[in-house]
Amino acid sequence: MRAKIIGTGSFLPKKIATNNDLSALMDTSDEWIKSRTGICERHLVSSQSENTLSMAVNAGKSALENAGLLPEEIDLILVATVSSDYITPSTACMVQKELHAVHAAAFDINAACSGFLFALNTADAYFQAGIYRTALIIGVETLSKLVDWNDRSTCVLFGDGAGAAVLKASQDGMIASLQGSNGAKGDALVCKSRTNNNPYISTDASPSYLYMDGKEIFKFAVKKEPECIQELLAQTGLAPSDITWYLLHQANQRIIASIAKKLKLPLDKFPSNVHHCGNTSAASIPILLDEVHRAGKLKEGDLLLLSGFGAGLTWGAALLKW
Ligand code: COA
Repeated sequence: MRAKIIGTGSFLPKKIATNNDLSALMDTSDEWIKSRTGICERHLVSSQSENTLSMAVNAGKSALENAGLLPEEIDLILVATVSSDYITPSTACMVQKELHAVHAAAFDINAACSGFLFALNTADAYFQAGIYRTALIIGVETLSKLVDWNDRSTCVLFGDGAGAAVLKASQDGMIASLQGSNGAKGDALVCKSRTNNNPYISTDASPSYLYMDGKEIFKFAVKKEPECIQELLAQTGLAPSDITWYLLHQANQRIIASIAKKLKLPLDKFPSNVHHCGNTSAASIPILLDEVHRAGKLKEGDLLLLSGFGAGLTWGAALLKW
């Protein structure tokens, strides 16, 4: 049995920060951000009650309602995130508690912007092994608390939000997937853990924020993501044009356009929401999936190719039938 997506949901905080709003806070401009990334605005948490857990719960509830499943019917909860509110318990266990999904096993996955794909592939592997039959997978990030708001080259790129999907074991659904990592290149995008309370170690008390070598990540993305997509297509014998929709990680419209060009496909096969969400890391693919689903664009039998890349470095792709 394979994983079939039977419901989607998402949540974006109400507060919208436009590029012009940010240019009031730092030396940047709408023209600089838009021309290099396609981003016009992003949603950001703006109160203590809005956090990684609350966004994950909202997106999860919405996906369950959309799927018509009760929380008690869920066997597995996977939350992909690098911005948990707590180190322990995991966000997945906290979501389980909030939703009363009492029969689920729950754990988090840390694969940055590829995290939702790693969660999808993990759930699918459990289904293929016959261990579980239903899963709630969530990608959620509050990157606004990790970025350095004095580093204009990174903070303008990211947004907060959550996206979720409910999976059910089925004869169809997932067709093929792949994922990969290159830890040797991990220095290009890092965020160190913030504290060390060990009395035998003298610690640097300064807070550690997200650091990114933007040019390195750009080069990695425009090379690795199309390679990954082509490898997946080769596994299945499908041509790029056979895919109905490409739902890619929403980091930068220029990266999406470059991938479309490499695959010799029109850009209209690549729905995008980077202009209003920015890069929401692990949440970006499921938020986009939910938007496309709720807009009525997905028809039974459509072939969807989901793909992304991120810190680690990590990358992944999944091909599935809607
Ligand atoms: N506003 C105005 N100027 C800015 C700026 C901002 N927000 N951020 C950086 N700059 C300046 C820099 O200081 C630099 O100035 P200098 O040349 O005087 O030193 C200049 O702009 C760099 O511009 P450019 O070389 O055109 O940048 P770029 O084409 O490399 O674009 C990124 C920068 C970050 C948009 C691009 O590298 C990128 O998208 N990388 C991938 C990031 C990504 O996808 N990360 C997510 C991983 S999951």
